[in-house]
Amino acid sequence: MNYLGPEDILKKRQQYFFPATSAFYKEPPQIVGGSMQFLFDHNNKRYVDFFAGVSVLNCGHSNPEILKETIAQLNKMQHTTTLYLTQPMVELAEKLAGILPGNIKRTFFCVTGSEANEGAMALARLYTKKSGYIALKGGLHGRTHLTLSVTGIPMWRLDDNLIKDHVYFIDRPFSSDSSYEEAMTKSLQELEDVLQKHGKDICAMLIEPIQGNGGIIMYPYDYVRKVKALLEQHNVLLIVDEVQTGYGRTGKMFAIENYDVVPDIIVTAKALGNGIPISTFSTTDEIAQAYNRPSASTFGGNPVSAQTALSVLNYIKKNHLVTRAKDLGEYLKHKLQQLSSTYIQEIRGCGLMLGMQIQAANHVKTSAEITDMILEEMKERGFLLGKNGLNRDVVAFQPPLVITKEDIDAMIENLKETLEML
Ligand SMILES: Cc1ncc(COP(=O)(O)O)c(C=O)c1O
Repeated sequence: MNYLGPEDILKKRQQYFFPATSAFYKEPPQIVGGSMQFLFDHNNKRYVDFFAGVSVLNCGHSNPEILKETIAQLNKMQHTTTLYLTQPMVELAEKLAGILPGNIKRTFFCVTGSEANEGAMALARLYTKKSGYIALKGGLHGRTHLTLSVTGIPMWRLDDNLIKDHVYFIDRPFSSDSSYEEAMTKSLQELEDVLQKHGKDICAMLIEPIQGNGGIIMYPYDYVRKVKALLEQHNVLLIVDEVQTGYGRTGKMFAIENYDVVPDIIVTAKALGNGIPISTFSTTDEIAQAYNRPSASTFGGNPVSAQTALSVLNYIKKNHLVTRAKDLGEYLKHKLQQLSSTYIQEIRGCGLMLGMQIQAANHVKTSAEITDMILEEMKERGFLLGKNGLNRDVVAFQPPLVITKEDIDAMIENLKETLEML
């Protein structure tokens, strides 16, 4: 195959894309192939992928076992409307009912995380007959008008005219200036105040169980339980956005299980299709009854995506990817904590969703610039790391869950040398 090469691709992007699109790296490679935890560029250079397409490829790139079923379904029947009966979709809904927490057993299928969050927010309105929302600062929930309106990361709030009426942001239980305990008390107090004043107008609060784009922020164990209790007093539903955290990534099937809380509505996407677009919002029998006017997503639960998702869930189970994420996550976290560098402020997260908070150790470079330097050097050395955080200064480690201990050791060795070079 004749590859265009990175320079031409960048030129065409500049010419034909919107200016909103950006790329990691000063000289981004053209990625042309993927195989499990590896990606390959047009020069056939191999990279160990520590970002997994932002938490999508939990089962690895072009996983042959999963693709076999995707391709078989593509050859058999590609698409039809949900107005006709097809089998993969119901089998998937049934399987999800078996793994979702608590009494959550009914699922609506759609295509993207944004669409599923939007649907979950509509469901909360229908059930409670109220229309306001509470969200956490630092959260990210999508790109539609409503999901942007509850996104608490300034750089991702595309539009200056988002919905402000009845959208209430409260502080997340994390602050670089105070302890987790203090930040949690502040956040809960703010929640209580908003509920006291506006609870009668609010239908739901949305949270990511671990903030991804917000900088891999995990909450104190008690926080979500206390939030849930406060919300219940005001008939406000808890929507948990598991778009980035779902399907084993954090060492539990769903990250909310790390806090032993059952939400009212759970939203998933990304890893369910392992690269084939599919998303869900799921809830209990009782709440689902409120969503009763005709509604359907053209591609939601499409036979190819549903069959792929079934295969993904089987693969996760058969290969024990949930415990693998937990064990390898602990190993990686320990290794990261052992690195001694003045640039590392904190290692956060759990399972294979870890973040390394970078700090500026001198006044020559900002923490964001140092983060970029780490990503650039690690790319040269064959490791693709992620980046997030409100100031874009958190190095993210979210590899495919099929990664090995040897890949982690090699990455750590190179990261150590990179930090020493800075
Ligand atoms: C937590 C979370 N929610 C929602 C979204 C939006 O998902 P999508 O891009 O599939 O619409 C994202 C995307 O990164 C996300 O990380």
